[in-house]
Amino acid sequence: MEFGFDVRRVLRPDEDGFTIITPQSDSIQNKELCEIINEMGKASARAQSLGAVITTPSRFFSSSDSKLYIKSENQKVIGILKTGRRKLFYTDMIGKITEMTPLCLLDFYVHESMQRHGHGKLIYERMLEEENVLPNKIAIDRPSNKLISFMRKHYGLADYIPQNNNFVIYHQFFDTNFKLP
Ligand code: ACO
Repeated sequence: MEFGFDVRRVLRPDEDGFTIITPQSDSIQNKELCEIINEMGKASARAQSLGAVITTPSRFFSSSDSKLYIKSENQKVIGILKTGRRKLFYTDMIGKITEMTPLCLLDFYVHESMQRHGHGKLIYERMLEEENVLPNKIAIDRPSNKLISFMRKHYGLADYIPQNNNFVIYHQFFDTNFKLP
């Protein structure tokens, strides 16, 4: 996605094209960054046919523990990924309920013109590295069919018990020997 200003100046990406923002990132918070978050958030919601936008500047900057990963290449913003911790109640196979506060994948979007070129995997794995976590330990908020396919293809994660809260927690969440393929 392109913008009418110098994207590199606003995002100041690292050598791999990543900018990582927290709600406390005051130094980078400005009108142009808000425009990037706004437009990418809206595009993500459209791509997922959601009624409401999950990632807006005001929701992001007023949250406590969210993190936003933005990947750009020259003047183009390629994708965003948002994480945060959520308190969830997980119901297992026999109906036992466990309270947990896992790291959650809350929003994930790669621009339509760039999908299926490996950018999603690069963004996701940058997040894993930054959070020092394996993919089995991440709960996913209402994954789309594309994301379900992405998790199966890249990490062999497919099986889960549907939950009332619509978060997906794969069976391997409880597997202490899980390894990246
Ligand atoms: N149909 C089915 N599977 C797809 C599609 C598609 N159109 N696009 C990507 N995938 C899955 C497939 O497993 C694909 O492998 P394949 O091409 O061999 O079938 C794999 O992702 C490709 O991996 P990457 O290229 O690394 O992923 P990409 O850059 O496309 O990013 C993402 C994946 C973020 C899901 C992207 O497709 C996207 O933005 N989709 C639209 C928005 C969306 O659905 N976001 C997730 C919402 S759920 C949430 O945010 C918590």
